Amino acid sequence: MGVTRESALIIAEILRCKFGLEVDLVDLKEQKSLDLAQYQNMVIGSGVRAGKVYGKALKFLENDLTGKKVAFFVSSAWAGTPGSYETAKARFVEKTLAKYPKINPVSTEAFGGRIKYIRKTMVDNTDLAKVEAWAEELGKKFTQ
Ligand SMILES: Cc1cc2nc3c(=O)[nH]c(=O)nc-3n(C[C@H](O)[C@H](O)[C@H](O)COP(=O)(O)O)c2cc1C
Repeated sequence: MGVTRESALIIAEILRCKFGLEVDLVDLKEQKSLDLAQYQNMVIGSGVRAGKVYGKALKFLENDLTGKKVAFFVSSAWAGTPGSYETAKARFVEKTLAKYPKINPVSTEAFGGRIKYIRKTMVDNTDLAKVEAWAEELGKKFTQ
C-alpha cells in the first residue's frame, strides 16, 4: 500500500471516530466521476515522484471547490529527510497550490514517504504519528 493511501485511511478513521464526521475515501485512480456537491470538506493527498505531485491529484485540483474547506497533503521521501522538509513543502505543496489560486486551503502538510524496490524497502521516513496529529487538527477545523 502506498503511503498516501495509508495516511488517508488514518485521517478518515480519526475524522470518523473522534469527530463524528461522515467520510468517503476516494482513490482517484479508480474513481472516474464524483459528485463533489455532496461534500463540505475535502482532504486531497498525493505522492510525489520525479519532483511532481501525481497527475490525478493535479487534475482533481482543477475542480471548483468553492465553499468547501480544503486540506492538501503530499507524501514525499524528501519531506521526511532531515533538513529537507521546508524545501519539500515549499516545492511540492506551496508551489503546486499556487497554480490553483481559487483553492484557499485550511491546512497543508508534507509527510515522509517510502521507496520500495523489488519488494525491498530502500527508504522509509514515514511518520504516521505526524499524520494522526494533522488529522486531529483537521477534525477541529472541519467541525468549527
Ligand atoms: C520513481 C520514484 C521517484 C520518486 N521521486 C521523488 C522525488 O522527486 N521527490 C521526493 O521527495 N520523493 C520521491 N520519491 C519518493 C516518493 O515520494 C515516496 O515513495 C512516497 O511514498 C510516494 O507516495 P505514495 O507511497 O503514496 O505513492 C520517488 C519514488 C519513486 C518510486
